[in-house]
Amino acid sequence: MTRHVLITGGCGFIGSNFVRYVRAQRPAWRITNIDKLTEAGNLQNLADVPEDERYRFVMGDICDAPLVGRLIHDCTDIVHLAAETHVDRSIMDARPFIHSNVLGTQTILDAALRTFEARSSGRLVFASTDEVYGSLPLDRPDLKFTEDSPLRPNNPYSASKAAADMMVRAYHETFGLDCVVTRCCNNFGPNQFPEKVIPLFVTNLLEGKHVPLYGDGKNVRDWIHVEDYCSALLTMLERGQSGATYNVGANNERSNLELTRELLRVLGQGPDMIRHVADRLGHDRRYAIDATKLETELSWQATRSAWPEALERTVRWYQDNESWWRAVKSGVYKDYYRRQYGLFDEAEMDSPSAR
Ligand code: NAD
Ligand code: TYD
Repeated sequence: MTRHVLITGGCGFIGSNFVRYVRAQRPAWRITNIDKLTEAGNLQNLADVPEDERYRFVMGDICDAPLVGRLIHDCTDIVHLAAETHVDRSIMDARPFIHSNVLGTQTILDAALRTFEARSSGRLVFASTDEVYGSLPLDRPDLKFTEDSPLRPNNPYSASKAAADMMVRAYHETFGLDCVVTRCCNNFGPNQFPEKVIPLFVTNLLEGKHVPLYGDGKNVRDWIHVEDYCSALLTMLERGQSGATYNVGANNERSNLELTRELLRVLGQGPDMIRHVADRLGHDRRYAIDATKLETELSWQATRSAWPEALERTVRWYQDNESWWRAVKSGVYKDYYRRQYGLFDEAEMDSPSAR
């Protein structure tokens, strides 16, 4: 049977990369993409993907139950990526995070349950995050998150994702809905909205601006290239065990200071471009993913994430796609902050915590 996958949040960073990935890897499949086009959602991310019998875009909110019900009725599976995703925004206003991440997920789950139960087939893959595990100490490099680590989210974003993650589990346990939960580390790659650290720093440096490094810069993130996460999502959709949770990672831990120095090296700039700014509230110290379960049970391997090559490729993408990020940074993005957070003058550094 030819699959017809509903991808939620397909105009965002991971979603747009996943739409392209599925079209390349599974050319016979059909895709419907529902996206609300928040600031992070951008139709330009899929400008090269024509709407035809293989791909359809629907602008809409995943909390719109009748709409979601109609779309799922036409689909065989769901890859649920839509969410509010930026930790700093969640600290300033948690409400949209509860709306999209918790209520949105519950709306998708209810519609999936109705349709897939009646049909006795249909799988939901949910993009949770490693941030649901909370934070690891810097002085215990031996520790990593496994799927059995307790959930201890520390900020409103990760708390909303943990709530959604647990709702997916509950629909599997209570109703037997065929679900797979994925907890991935920090992604990088093309088309990432430049409020996240890598595209923000790269584009700032390309504009001759400083980069705002939070706190002491020692916080550690575990990095994976978005194409590796896309291959993991497809693997879990096709072969994941129903009801299972899989960590996704590429064994690529770096402190923010190491990351920043690497970006400065690639772009031929010096440490004078770093501005140490106030720390993020509740800033998680370290994330580190143990992806052994996915690697051994489903024979998945990260193949595109190794530094420095993967990072250099990503920097090159932003260098080659200046019109994309200039439009994003100059228009909607700043207007959003003006509207949402009040005064926003033409600050040298385009980051909410840098003001
Ligand atoms: P993103 O912010 O770039 O994209 C999210 C997309 O969801 C946007 O296109 C937005 O318009 C859409 N959206 C938001 N609310 C919506 C709603 N109510 N209805 C319909 N569409 C809505 O995020 P991303 O980085 O691509 O992340 C995608 C998913 O992966 C998220 O669920 C995120 O929690 C998860 N995740 C991301 C990372 C990462 O490093 N980026 C890591 C682990 C997990
Ligand atoms: P971010 O890209 O927001 O992802 P997440 O918070 O989901 O990990 O931030 C990655 C790291 O970079 C995090 O430790 C915070 C730090 N950071 C800065 O130092 N400066 C910035 O301007 C931003 C946006 C993030």
